[in-house]
Amino acid sequence: MLGNFTYCNPTKLYFGDESLNFLNDELPKYGKNVLLIYGGGSIKKNGIYDEVVKILKDNGKEVFEDSGVMPNPTLDKLYDGMKIARENSIDLLLAVGGGSCCDYAKALSVSVNCDEDPWDKYFIRREAVTCKILPVGCILTMAGTGSEMNSGAVISNTEKKLKIDRSFGEAAMPKFSILNPKFTYSLPRRQMVAGIYDIFNHICEQYFSNEDDNTSDYIAEALMKSVVHSSLIAIDDPENYEARSNIMWSATWALNSLISRGKKTDWMVHLIGQAIGAYTDATHGMTLSAVSMPYYRLIMSYGLPKFRRFALEVWGIRPEGKSDEQIASEGLDAMEEWMNKLGLIMKTSELGVTEDMIDAIAENALAETSGYKVLSKDEIVAIIKAGM
Ligand code: NZQ
Ligand code: ZN
Repeated sequence: MLGNFTYCNPTKLYFGDESLNFLNDELPKYGKNVLLIYGGGSIKKNGIYDEVVKILKDNGKEVFEDSGVMPNPTLDKLYDGMKIARENSIDLLLAVGGGSCCDYAKALSVSVNCDEDPWDKYFIRREAVTCKILPVGCILTMAGTGSEMNSGAVISNTEKKLKIDRSFGEAAMPKFSILNPKFTYSLPRRQMVAGIYDIFNHICEQYFSNEDDNTSDYIAEALMKSVVHSSLIAIDDPENYEARSNIMWSATWALNSLISRGKKTDWMVHLIGQAIGAYTDATHGMTLSAVSMPYYRLIMSYGLPKFRRFALEVWGIRPEGKSDEQIASEGLDAMEEWMNKLGLIMKTSELGVTEDMIDAIAENALAETSGYKVLSKDEIVAIIKAGM
């Protein structure tokens, strides 16, 4: 472990099938006006909405609503939310949903009291937050992004066809997050597996960088093994509490900054996935699965020792009589087989990518990252085309 770093994670987590009760402990810490943020209505169908509203009312809160947060939340939606929060002097932003609702709540928390345009200030000029930040609480209904315990928010500017992530720092992290694995049972299978691959890829993005011996990599391997193991149980038995709870807990640790300590990290799959998402509005986890295999096969030889280790430690590939390339390659084959078993999208054409979009997508994804290879635009184009 050769890197220098700081680590602080102030989000309080309540985990388990009785965790919603702890909302009663949190609410008294905040003012009367609560903005309940949710998506397209899944929480009304599965009953979570009624449970949450009852607790809010029992605690004497005035409840305002900001619904319709879409997957891949947009800048226009953020402007609407700023108006609602300002008009109602909101004291607490309570997101009930997946990563989109949690991200949206965080973006809102740093925008409500900001007197500049949040897109220009935070996402383009990348400036620090200087205004008062509204507190955020999350009640998570989908495991995947890790947004419940990190400071990130991804916002899509549909007009400019840009989808950009931003970390707002410690002060903008959720004050508390409630994680009940049973709340994820009602997820359609497609969303469940998209979330599972999102988790796995977050770990890969941090693991596939650096050459030093780093404890973070050993933790990453354990998390990957747990995700693979539990995912295979969950696809056959979606209400298996043990599997769904392991998936939920792994998602949090995959992207709450622990396993990136001392690591340069990569994030190239996410950059390409986000650029595709800006053009297609496709499901986040699926944008990652569709480009992963061509990407990892392209960079494998540049980070061969780590890909060899990945094959041995995560996929249990037997090394006897094989070259390092062969071992590493068999590891990627095993990963691809697992992805196919989950039923992930493996082709960019199935995300809605068409020939005329490719150049602009590649341009938007172009960045110097610190993975094993800096990609040229032509290489990004080849990765996108590999799945068409
Ligand atoms: O809107 P509703 O009706 O609630 O339906 C949602 C949505 O359609 C549905 N859903 C969620 N929980 C459900 C459920 N349906 C039935 N039962 C439940 N229990 O699932 C759909 C997808 O939800 P969404 O929140 O969009 O998914 P996810 O958690 O994958 O979040 C995706 C967003 O997070 C960003 C992505 O880019 C994308 O915008 N990310 C955020 C990150 C972060 N903060 O660190 C990192 C990630 O890499 C990612 O980029
Ligand atoms: Zn992701």
